[in-house]
Amino acid sequence: MNSNYSIETIITEQDRKELKKLFDNLSFMNLQQGCHLFNIERRDVKDEKNVYTEKIRKYGESKGYQLQQNYFLKYRENSFTRVHADDCHSDSVKLTIVTVVETQDLIGGECLVFDEYQKTLDNRGDYIMLSGDDNGVPYGKNIIPVFVKLNCGQSVVYDGGVEHGVTRVEQGHRVVLVSWFN
Ligand SMILES: [Fe+2]
Repeated sequence: MNSNYSIETIITEQDRKELKKLFDNLSFMNLQQGCHLFNIERRDVKDEKNVYTEKIRKYGESKGYQLQQNYFLKYRENSFTRVHADDCHSDSVKLTIVTVVETQDLIGGECLVFDEYQKTLDNRGDYIMLSGDDNGVPYGKNIIPVFVKLNCGQSVVYDGGVEHGVTRVEQGHRVVLVSWFN
């Protein structure tokens, strides 16, 4: 089954620890709302060639994209991201990599991606179409809500047109590095 996102291991455990140190040393903004993000802490990585984000930059470049922006988000109680696609931003984003830097006592705060509904999913033979035919069936549309399970240090990668969100945090926190490419 093809998906419109992938889970990758781009950085090592040592890299993840270095990223956490970088996060700890950056100044922060608490945003009640920042575009699609709510009740969240944001820390911008100013230097695009930062040594700790190098592997992620190179990964994006290997796919043919240029790094546009790196920033950390800290999801904590009541943080969430409403469903959106990143290419809605004025600086059109072509590829997004979200890397989990730290997770602690987390309930909620999980990544949701809306995956493509493909005709092959319908070929089991034991389903019928209520309408009798498949006119208007949303084949090729990104309508399937998928909960993307990420371990610490892993990255989820999707292109700018893929809708995604983050469920509201009920407890604990999660720090991620968001890398935008165009
Ligand atoms: Fe986004």
